[in-house]
Amino acid sequence: MAAWWQEAVVYQIYPRSFQDTTGDGVGDLPGILSRVDYLSETLGVDAVWLSPFYPSPMEDFGYDVSDYCNVHPMFGTLDDFDRLIDALHARGMRLIVDFVPNHSSDQHPWFLASRSSRDDPKRDWYVWRDGRPDGSPPSNWRAVFGGPAWDFDEVTGQWYLHSFLPQQPDLDWRNPEVEAAMHDALRFWLDRGVDGFRIDVAHFIMKDPEFRDNPLAPALSGEAPFKDMGAYDDQAHVHDKGHPDVLGAFRGIRSVLDEYDDRFSVGEIHEFDPLRWAAYYDQGAGLHMPFNFFLIATPWTADGVRSRVDAVDGAVPSHAWPNHVLGNHDEQRLASRFGPESARAAAVLLLTLRGTPTLYYGDELGMGEVAVPPEQEQDPWGIRVPGMSRDGCRTPMAWDASPNAGFSSTGAATWLPLHDDWRESNVEAELADPASVLNLYRTLLKMRKESAALRLGTYVPLDGVPDGCFAYVRKIDGESVAVLISFSEHEMDVPLHPGTVLVSSGMDRMGEAVGGSVRLRAREALVIS
Ligand code: GLC
Repeated sequence: MAAWWQEAVVYQIYPRSFQDTTGDGVGDLPGILSRVDYLSETLGVDAVWLSPFYPSPMEDFGYDVSDYCNVHPMFGTLDDFDRLIDALHARGMRLIVDFVPNHSSDQHPWFLASRSSRDDPKRDWYVWRDGRPDGSPPSNWRAVFGGPAWDFDEVTGQWYLHSFLPQQPDLDWRNPEVEAAMHDALRFWLDRGVDGFRIDVAHFIMKDPEFRDNPLAPALSGEAPFKDMGAYDDQAHVHDKGHPDVLGAFRGIRSVLDEYDDRFSVGEIHEFDPLRWAAYYDQGAGLHMPFNFFLIATPWTADGVRSRVDAVDGAVPSHAWPNHVLGNHDEQRLASRFGPESARAAAVLLLTLRGTPTLYYGDELGMGEVAVPPEQEQDPWGIRVPGMSRDGCRTPMAWDASPNAGFSSTGAATWLPLHDDWRESNVEAELADPASVLNLYRTLLKMRKESAALRLGTYVPLDGVPDGCFAYVRKIDGESVAVLISFSEHEMDVPLHPGTVLVSSGMDRMGEAVGGSVRLRAREALVIS
């Protein structure tokens, strides 16, 4: 019997940008509650992952948590949260919440206590070290968001570690009191009924206990660059994250989840060596899955995508379950990365591969990256390191052609601008257009729900197809489904057993009988039964 999260399609909501009900231009939990029917009926996803909605000074838009067990008033109340979870459960959906274990906000009472004196009982909840004799920081580690990963505290004369912003001090997971407090935070949400956690930068929570310098040779890390991160890339990040002890911490988290029925965890783990990535499945004893970002990092070519899919599928241990991600709140929008046609083909790929797919809100409308003008820039990463802004993929959802696209009330200043073509590219308009991207997603989701082969079947890549085509078969018992994806600018004929088109990426070939050979158009994707 498959677990619910193996058969589910997960939909990520960035709460600031989904639906505003208060007119402050920022989304909120009652807003998400008002769109539950969209999620369950219109779209047909099975689980929702909410990015952080906890109290926070919002230096990193909620990934700087100042209270792990509450709701930021901007997003609503705990009662609103309970109403939302009840509404999702009533429709048979699951709720996954973000858990941010590596760092808290510097305004969290734990850190305020920790920095107050070297003798404070919470001092060792964070990572404090003396500098080197020459007055420089304890190690050469760099923060992901630019600059050194250490800040000097004048009051107590030591340095504290922050892998991200200075306002996001790293908790010390080697301290059993920290681990126990974080486990209690998990229990707080599990008791309220959450079905699982997406664990933020999960592999960062264990570092080298000796705080050795990272080598200055990126090649040593064996990592293919995921995206250009400027000076951060000058080092091989072998000591500042991903220490093998992290598996023990994950087993601890798993034991908390296993106190409850049927709960789930997925770790945000950026690791691009397939076998090292798969090691995070850890005999099934730790997190249920590490997120698989290979498709985001892979060039959009038939060989590139096939080789990564094969490598990942082959690396996943037999006890474990794969998953695929094409976009999230940290990456450039899919539709802009690949272009509109290939983004449709990518939707077909994501929803027909073996493993749990995670969709990012707005991708189902084909929303593109928004060029946010400098004076409206919000993302602290972009403000600190030019070119790194994530604002463009976090813009408001568009529901209809009313002012502010139905996201917020007329006249409200939305926290980020809408995409330029929101009058055509919104839920209402796309529902009325049979060939829209939204109707493609709806059709794919319905097809996946109805096909055991797509949800649970094996994955077998097909050889002997023309260059520029990636083709595979998903199979279970008597059911078999073929998927053909073109990465080419030219049409091609693909040899295939006779069958019927279930879905075409252009939404214009459904029901077509194909036999012997299929004519695949440029950048088209077909699902054939
Ligand atoms: C993760 C989040 C990102 C956040 C960072 C620090 O990468 O996805 O949005 O800024 O962690 O918490």
